Amino acid sequence: MTTSLSQVFHLEDWISRQLSVVEQALDQWVSVDASAHLEHQAPSELMAAMRYAVLDGGKRLRPLLVMAAFEAVQYGQTPGMSQSALRAEMSQAALRAACAVELIHAYSLVHDDMPCMDNDILRRGKPTVHVAFGEASALLAGDALQALAFELLTPDVAVMPATQQAHLCRLLARAAGCTGMAGGQAIDLASVGLQLSESQLQEMHRLKTGALLEASVMMGAACGHTSVVTWNALQEFGAAIGLAFQVVDDVLDVTADSVTLGKTAGKDADSCKPTYVSLMGLSEATAFARKLKLQALDALERTGLADVRALQGLAETVVDRTC
Ligand code: IPE
Ligand code: IPE
Ligand code: MG
Ligand code: MG
Ligand code: MG
Repeated sequence: MTTSLSQVFHLEDWISRQLSVVEQALDQWVSVDASAHLEHQAPSELMAAMRYAVLDGGKRLRPLLVMAAFEAVQYGQTPGMSQSALRAEMSQAALRAACAVELIHAYSLVHDDMPCMDNDILRRGKPTVHVAFGEASALLAGDALQALAFELLTPDVAVMPATQQAHLCRLLARAAGCTGMAGGQAIDLASVGLQLSESQLQEMHRLKTGALLEASVMMGAACGHTSVVTWNALQEFGAAIGLAFQVVDDVLDVTADSVTLGKTAGKDADSCKPTYVSLMGLSEATAFARKLKLQALDALERTGLADVRALQGLAETVVDRTC
């Protein structure tokens, strides 16, 4: 049933509805059962490390952005959308996109925490994957999660048209690779102990974190149909909240405690990482995140979409969050 705009929108209810579907799909897809039809089964220890990395934790912001963007573009257009079969096919694509982006994110966290990178022992309130399973298993679990993300996006063509599969794969690959997350992580590691200019820091944050958040929005949009104007405005929205997210992550590293964050607080200063807090101080960094939120909300208005309440609520959550 399509939501009428006159209905009151409760973000928490919307989130819990989406999460119940996404959590179930992740549980099902990151499992030995998912490969039961294949000739070879995943080794149980590797699958255990993958499940440990993905399930039971995380805010799931990226899948929520995929679903919110998908709903917004679906709501915004009518022609052809009356056929329930087509709608079901598009929802299936959005769910796969939501899970795929979370798998890439989970893999990035596993590798980010390893001794060769940030050397963290706590993630999502649990010992990190390399602490629980060993470094080699953490490395492989990350590798396998990345591959599984692309497997999810390439089902039989009866499930998703080949052109849509290719589009989603391209969006995700670009956001995850050397001009996205992995590239940003390389800059991050090379910047330890350095003082970056604001534009250098912005570039690092846009790549290491912003790219995947922006891709989440665009992958949701790519599961429906948009005009060029809508597509471009959504991209601006995604870029603004993507950068804001990492600015707030820098702020919370200083202002929140480890129990609240589920990861070790105060790590950035201890590791001599350049951050928005080290560059401009706490209050200016917080003000900058708020400015980015306004930019995001302005872009959202320019999408011309009829119902962007979930995207708007998520943008506010990104900046106003406490963990
Ligand atoms: C943490 O991301 C890593 C960054 C990109 C800053 P999240 O804060 O979204 O982590 P989870 O998924 O909620 O654990
Ligand atoms: C990591 O940034 C971004 C990733 C690509 C995983 P951080 O290193 O600041 O993330 P946290 O603070 O460990 O979650
Ligand atoms: Mg890091
Ligand atoms: Mg880290
Ligand atoms: Mg951080």
